[in-house]
Amino acid sequence: MKLLGLFTSIALFIFSTIAVDLDISDKDSICSAAALIADGTLDYYEGDKYGGTVGMFSNPYYWWESGEAMGSLIGHWFFCQNDTYEDLIYNALIAQKGDDNDYIPKNQSTTEGNDDQGFWGIAVLEAAERNFTNPKDDDTPGWIAMAQAVFNTMWLRWDPDHCGGGLRWQIFTWNSGYSYKNTISTACMFNIACRLGRYTGNDTYFDVAEKAYQWLVDVKFVVEGDEMQVYDGAEIDDNCTDITKSEWSYNYGLLLAGCAYAYNSTEDDTWGDRVDSLLKGCDIFFEDDIMYEKGCQSSGTCNNDQRSFKSIFSRSLGQTAQLVPSTASTIQNWLQKSAEGAAKSCSGGTDGHTCGLDWTKGSWDNKYGLGEEISALEVIQNLLIDERPAPLTNDTGGTSKGDASAGSNPSGSQNQLNQDDLKITGRDKAGSGILTAIVLSALVGGAIWMIL
Ligand SMILES: *[C@@H]1O[C@H](CO)[C@@H](O)[C@H](O)[C@H]1NC(C)=O
Ligand SMILES: *[C@@H]1O[C@H](CO)[C@@H](O)[C@H](O)[C@H]1NC(C)=O
Ligand SMILES: *[C@@H]1O[C@H](CO)[C@@H](O)[C@H](O)[C@H]1NC(C)=O
Ligand SMILES: *[C@@H]1O[C@H](CO)[C@@H](O)[C@H](O)[C@H]1NC(C)=O
Ligand SMILES: *[C@@H]1O[C@H](CO)[C@@H](O)[C@H](O)[C@H]1NC(C)=O
Ligand SMILES: *[C@@H]1O[C@H](CO)[C@@H](O)[C@H](O)[C@H]1NC(C)=O
Ligand SMILES: *[C@@H]1O[C@H](CO)[C@@H](O)[C@H](O)[C@H]1NC(C)=O
Repeated sequence: MKLLGLFTSIALFIFSTIAVDLDISDKDSICSAAALIADGTLDYYEGDKYGGTVGMFSNPYYWWESGEAMGSLIGHWFFCQNDTYEDLIYNALIAQKGDDNDYIPKNQSTTEGNDDQGFWGIAVLEAAERNFTNPKDDDTPGWIAMAQAVFNTMWLRWDPDHCGGGLRWQIFTWNSGYSYKNTISTACMFNIACRLGRYTGNDTYFDVAEKAYQWLVDVKFVVEGDEMQVYDGAEIDDNCTDITKSEWSYNYGLLLAGCAYAYNSTEDDTWGDRVDSLLKGCDIFFEDDIMYEKGCQSSGTCNNDQRSFKSIFSRSLGQTAQLVPSTASTIQNWLQKSAEGAAKSCSGGTDGHTCGLDWTKGSWDNKYGLGEEISALEVIQNLLIDERPAPLTNDTGGTSKGDASAGSNPSGSQNQLNQDDLKITGRDKAGSGILTAIVLSALVGGAIWMIL
């Protein structure tokens, strides 16, 4: 018994020293916690391993999450002014940009959806707004130009023929999910439009953003009111009237931050009011002020994608607090309580600092993965929003080059991809269809659980 007691205390001692310590009022503490978690994130990275592809993580995950992870690592580079992973991030952003610099690399064409492309567009916007190292050779467009290519190609897919507008989930006809219109795809384009509008000062982007927002309201994926509600999406068959009502933090986050960028730039109260009621709506993702993924966490059904949503949600909250100062106190409180919970959850695995999914528990919950790491990383590094500048624009020190017409060249990606359509084998089609079907059934499953 005594021996066992000794082992237990040794084990406890080891674990208590290697878990992530966090003092939310101390920048050094925040940055050493963030550095440990950035390392944990990169444990899943394949790009620096033998035989791995630059910009890719180990399975199981979908490609969009790699874009999301790169955005989170840019955040670490920026908030903590730590350039350890600068080259790794840079190489990943370049390697995955695709031949047309619009983040539709051929490798991804069997599975890539509008939201996947959107998340890489969001990653290069993050690079531009944080003044991340610009592309070094003259043949490679600037981060803003690549974000514009993503925006322009997405906007070309705007589909007024079904449900009066919006983007479909999928880009390619052979992917199941092509007949589903979801909030995330339109919200990605909306978020990108608002940020391009603010960065470049070109109001056309806000016109598109307004149209996208209004469509989400018309089709009732967004229900306005004192506390705004944001639902998942609907099939086009019945004109998008049979709505899947699951609520996900990343939809709220991207819409909230988009409105915050638009308000900050235009000072139009319509955008300000939307920020306020979206922020109130976000309350559903907090339990005692600690963030949780309401649609799946308590039922224990979060899939690979869903386990990472708190990362973009945390980042979006940080941006909102910086751009709309009246939201800062609410958001700071949420971030602080959540970061403390996240740090306590980062005490698992053989390294003793693997992050978990449940931040309300006070200890590791045996869940782990890329999503858990980047969510903890974002919520912790966003504690530094008061100490670091707000997202830059072309007028406030941003140095990224743009190209308003990028990606709209008709001989570019769309045509190329249509030609590539023909080369896709039956087996590839079935494979990607099944993948998407699993995601779809998980989604519908989530929705049924919500109703029950
Ligand atoms: C910078 O990040 C690296 C990698 O996570 C870490 O080892 C290093 O300690 C960090 N530097 C500082 C000053 O926090
Ligand atoms: C495409 O995928 C293959 C197989 O995973 C990989 O070897 C190759 O490097 C990838 N190319 C790009 C540009 O990502
Ligand atoms: C503003 O953006 C629109 C939409 O991409 C583009 O057509 C237009 O050329 C841009 N204007 C300027 C001055 O860059
Ligand atoms: C389909 O939905 C859109 C958006 O809600 C609406 O504007 C349109 O009138 C609807 N069409 C039909 C035929 O019901
Ligand atoms: C826009 O953001 C900046 C940076 O945080 C802030 O100083 C400014 O007050 C904001 N503008 C508006 C209209 O809220
Ligand atoms: C942006 O980065 C460039 C190149 O590293 C640097 O010269 C410049 O001072 C930076 N500007 C800001 C506002 O950070
Ligand atoms: C930034 O401003 C400069 C000077 O007005 C302009 O030449 C450049 O096109 C702008 N870049 C972007 C990305 O808007």
